[in-house]
Formats: sequence, C-alpha cells, structure tokens
Amino acid sequence: MNSRQDAPSVTVVGLGAMGTALARAFLHAGHPTTVWNRTASRADDLVAVGAVRVDSLAAAAAASPVVVICVLDHAVVRELLDPLSEQLAGHAVVNLTSSTPERARETARWAEDHRIDYLDGAIMVPTPLIGRPEALLLYSGSPSVYDAHRATLASLGGRSEFLGADPGLASLYDLGMLDLFFASMAGFLHATALVGSDGVSARTFLPYAEQIAAILPEVFAGLARDVDAARYPGDEDNLDMEAASLDHIVHASEARGIDPVFPEVVRELARRAIARGHGRDGFSRVVEELRRVAT
Ligand SMILES: NC(=O)c1ccc[n+]([C@@H]2O[C@H](COP(=O)([O-])OP(=O)(O)OC[C@H]3O[C@@H](n4cnc5c(N)ncnc54)[C@H](OP(=O)(O)O)[C@@H]3O)[C@@H](O)[C@H]2O)c1
Repeated sequence: MNSRQDAPSVTVVGLGAMGTALARAFLHAGHPTTVWNRTASRADDLVAVGAVRVDSLAAAAAASPVVVICVLDHAVVRELLDPLSEQLAGHAVVNLTSSTPERARETARWAEDHRIDYLDGAIMVPTPLIGRPEALLLYSGSPSVYDAHRATLASLGGRSEFLGADPGLASLYDLGMLDLFFASMAGFLHATALVGSDGVSARTFLPYAEQIAAILPEVFAGLARDVDAARYPGDEDNLDMEAASLDHIVHASEARGIDPVFPEVVRELARRAIARGHGRDGFSRVVEELRRVAT
C-alpha cells in the first residue's frame, strides 16, 4: 500500500464488509491505519497490507485523532463508544453506521456532552466502490469537524458531500434515497410478475422497463417543482385518468393471481385525493395524501 508522510493516522472500528473496505481505502491513500474488530481474525488481511491491529477499543481510540466506526447498527455504536467517552474527548468520531436521523442526533448530543468532535455519515455505494472517485458518501454535523478532516475522508470516495450542521441530515438523505430505491425495485419486480404470468420473461421486458426509468429524471424534476411550490397542476396528467390506469393494473394483477398490493396502495392514495375534489390535479397532489397519513 502507499505510504504518505503527511497522511494523518486513522482508526477504523468494525471490520465487516464495509469497515474492511474503509480501512483498505485509508491504507491505500497512505494513512497509518489502526483497526479493531470484535472478531479479531477479520483484521488478518488488513494487517497483511499494513494495518495495525489492536486488541482493545481503548487502544484503538488512543491511536488516532480520527476514529471511524462502521458496525451493524447504532445500538452497537453506543455499546462500543459509551465506555470510551472520556478517552475520546478531543478526538473526532466519524460514524458511518447506517441509522435514522433521530439516532444520529442522539449520538451527536452524547458526543457534544463529552466534548467529542462528531460527524455522522452515510455511505451511498457498495463496498467495491469505496475509495474510488465516483463513491458518494454523505456527511452532516459540525462543519468545523468536517473541514478539519475532509482531506482524510476524501480517501474513502471522490464524491464526499457535507449536507449541513444538523447531524441527522446524512441519515435523512440516506433513507430518502433508499426509500426510492426499494420502491423502484419492488415496482420492477411487480411488473415482471405481471408480464411474466403471460409468459414474458423479465429479460424480454427489461428494455421496456428501461424506457420508463429513462423518463424518470424529467418526471422527478416536475414533481419536485410542484411539491416545493405546493401547486399540483393537472394540465399534462390528472388523477382521474391515472386512477383508471391504476385500476387496470390492479385488475390485470388479480386476474393473474399476482398480488396487487403495490398498485392498490398507489390507487388508494389517488382515490383519496380524488375524493377530496382533486381529480383534475396532477399526480404530484398525492404528496398531500402521504403527509396526511403521517400526521
Ligand atoms: N456492505 C455494504 O454494501 C454497505 C453499503 C452502505 C452502507 N453500509 C452500512 O455499513 C454498516 C456496516 O455494514 P457491513 O456490510 O460492514 O456489515 P457486516 O459485514 O454485517 O459487519 C457488521 C460489523 O458489526 C460488528 N458487530 C455486530 N454486532 C456487534 C457487537 N455487538 N459488538 C461489536 N461489534 C459488532 C461485526 O463484528 P464481528 O465481525 O465481530 O461480527 C462487524 O464488524 C451498516 O450500517 C450498513 O448499513 C454497508
């Protein structure tokens, strides 16, 4: 691995698939890298390429000004870090464990109470992309902590972004992106089940799914404009027409023994908006129904 005299030392706590990729990227960028994992043997490959394995969390925390933690969940983060609160004072903790905005804010408050510099982060790429220019990692929390360590964190990916001082923001964006990701995958799978029941393979259908995917950026831009303006013009599409299309998808699913749960949910939202007198509004009106469910 590279060695760079000026690269600050880093500690990585948690050597699952992601933590290992993070440690590897730090080593590759020349950072002296200390590692700790509950199952110590998971550090073997990293030690072979220059990492220093320590056998206690206390030693891991003491080894570097920056401690990156990436473990199963937030409960494990607190289980590991709480006993080190005094020792970590004056160090920076960068928590790259996925969680919720609420948990991130709670951990940030804990860190502040113990004079620990804290950044929360979300990793938006799979492990093979870590360390590459296209890897997107999102950060939020103290701007001064981010500024102090941004060069070190840049070793993890070329597309590091700082979202703001609210430590929950990285998690919030993470969940928003995952919300869209899972809904898209489920929608694709539902469509493949629907066409598949009449003998069309997923592979045959794929180029048609790609046609829909290709128009989504423009559709999203229009929806975003409507949502931010709280105006839902129905001049290009309207809910009455869309509810009829959703009816067709539900009926065709039922006729084939395919669970209509996804189109039914969307149809229900459209129907509620129509029942409130918004049938001539565009599909973006549905956001108001989603907000109504939430409150
Ligand atoms: N993998 C990805 O592609 C990916 C992508 C984006 C974000 N992430 C996020 O990265 C984080 C880690 O994911 P991963 O893929 O590395 O998970 P993983 O391979 O399952 O690793 C889990 C890590 O947590 C540790 N751990 C679990 N319970 C523990 C406990 N009670 N005490 C101490 N250590 C404990 C494990 O230690 P042991 O080795 O001892 O079990 C291991 O180091 C998650 O928040 C995940 O959402 C992952």
